[in-house]
Amino acid sequence: MVFHNLPPSLQSIANHLHQNRHLTPGQMRKLLLGANVQPIDLLPWADFDHPDADSYGRKMAYKGPNFEIMVMSWKPGDFSSIHDHGHTQWGAVQVFGHAEHATFRVDSGRISTLARWQMEPFEAVGVHHDLVHQMGNPTKDQPFLSLHVYGEPKDDASITGDARVFDLFKQQIQHVDGGVFFALPPAAVGFTEPAPIPDFPTKTRFHIELFRRMRKMAPSDYQRSGYTLEEVQSAIYAPQNRDFLLRCLEANSNSDGRQTNSVYWRILNHELKEAAKLLRELQEETTQSDRFHRYAEFYDAVIGQPSLDQFMRQYLEFFTHQYRISWPDQSVLSLGCGTGLAERHLIDQFHVPYAQLWGTDISPAMLAEARKRIQAWELDLLAMEENTGGHPWDIVYSGLNVFHYLPHTAFEQAVKAAASQLRPGGYFLGDFITPDHIRWYPNILYSHNKQVISLRTPQLVEDQGAMFQESEIVNISFADGPMEVTYAGKHKRFLPPMNRVRRYFERYFGGGVDLYDAVTLAPIPEVADSCPSTRYIVIAKK
Ligand SMILES: [Fe+2]
Repeated sequence: MVFHNLPPSLQSIANHLHQNRHLTPGQMRKLLLGANVQPIDLLPWADFDHPDADSYGRKMAYKGPNFEIMVMSWKPGDFSSIHDHGHTQWGAVQVFGHAEHATFRVDSGRISTLARWQMEPFEAVGVHHDLVHQMGNPTKDQPFLSLHVYGEPKDDASITGDARVFDLFKQQIQHVDGGVFFALPPAAVGFTEPAPIPDFPTKTRFHIELFRRMRKMAPSDYQRSGYTLEEVQSAIYAPQNRDFLLRCLEANSNSDGRQTNSVYWRILNHELKEAAKLLRELQEETTQSDRFHRYAEFYDAVIGQPSLDQFMRQYLEFFTHQYRISWPDQSVLSLGCGTGLAERHLIDQFHVPYAQLWGTDISPAMLAEARKRIQAWELDLLAMEENTGGHPWDIVYSGLNVFHYLPHTAFEQAVKAAASQLRPGGYFLGDFITPDHIRWYPNILYSHNKQVISLRTPQLVEDQGAMFQESEIVNISFADGPMEVTYAGKHKRFLPPMNRVRRYFERYFGGGVDLYDAVTLAPIPEVADSCPSTRYIVIAKK
């Protein structure tokens, strides 16, 4: 058969389907890939000017007795709703751009995201009757087309008729015969039934895409369907999400704060990053956001304060007694003071005079926080002059593994710089992490009242022969009520061998170097590669 309006690639698909009614999704996918379809073949059905009320463009390219060949057009930001495919028994989708694709499990009254990934141009996936999925264009500026074939063994006027759209805002399944769009007008919806209950990431992402679509639509288009922007936005960031999120984290982690479901963990982080991205856009549109200020608060709540409570306080006590430090007589320089929490502790609990303690940091945001507690300079510790503040210091302190954040080739230089600041007989005290710190590192950190939650995904990476622990961080705060999500990016820490760190200190401090486990405070022998807590302190006398 020759179909004059079809390019040869689509003709070969149609011909094959006219002769074979019984296919599997796998066979259909192979057929698509084998047809060597090019994007230009689909241009006659491109619809990039589709109305904003439509979530994407859709055109029928060919209708067989028992199959449909359709072309969808995806502008940047276009996403389908979550849906299935009506009467379809076998089908396949080929994308001609960087599409995002997600699949869902619907089971026992619940719906959860099984997978979400980026497809490569020309990649294809099979479609079976039970498939519930979502696809979209996550790019900023690259529209693309996709080719869809849906079929079943018997003749059918509408193969994809009676498709189910999962509306997780209204909590209803909508039966539709047309596009599987967000915020469908009542006229496009047949009968409805209760939707399965979504898990946290599925619910969050659904509402994010609904919200994004509604912001493109004319209010009159979504209002008559019963949606308001405020309600949908509130569903994403509501204070009530805290209990939901905490339950989801508890169900997918152990008592050490380690995630126990890697698939769920990846999806949760992915959707929270989308929530952070949307929130940033919304904040930029309204007031100037103060994200750095917020980061400093998160830092104290989930890292600074717990670290002080869990081990810094103890090692400061240990150092005081073991080395007979009379703090009120000491001048103290803190390198990389961050928010100044530990330094303030030295003033309040160890009675270092306020005027005798100075912090330094390179981050203006951290310094803004620190200056509420201590005196602090903005200073790159690698660029320190021979003496900071015009006189040698009695004690140089560096808390929370600051040295590991420096360029790895500068680690030794930092040790040398620290030594240069001390008077002879003065002490350096600092804490460090072992190369196997990832062994301890939890995926979830909570502030003491669980109002602030930090999700971290660490991995070991090699770069130019050096080892690093790279942690991707998403922070969630309910401290002000609504859920505030920020993506803190990937933080990289250099992991030098313990013995090399010991050697550097021995090289620049003449008066002896001692290493202790930062938690057990047991001495660390020369031969050790690690220690029980994965954190250690170095006490070096000049
Ligand atoms: Fe679909």
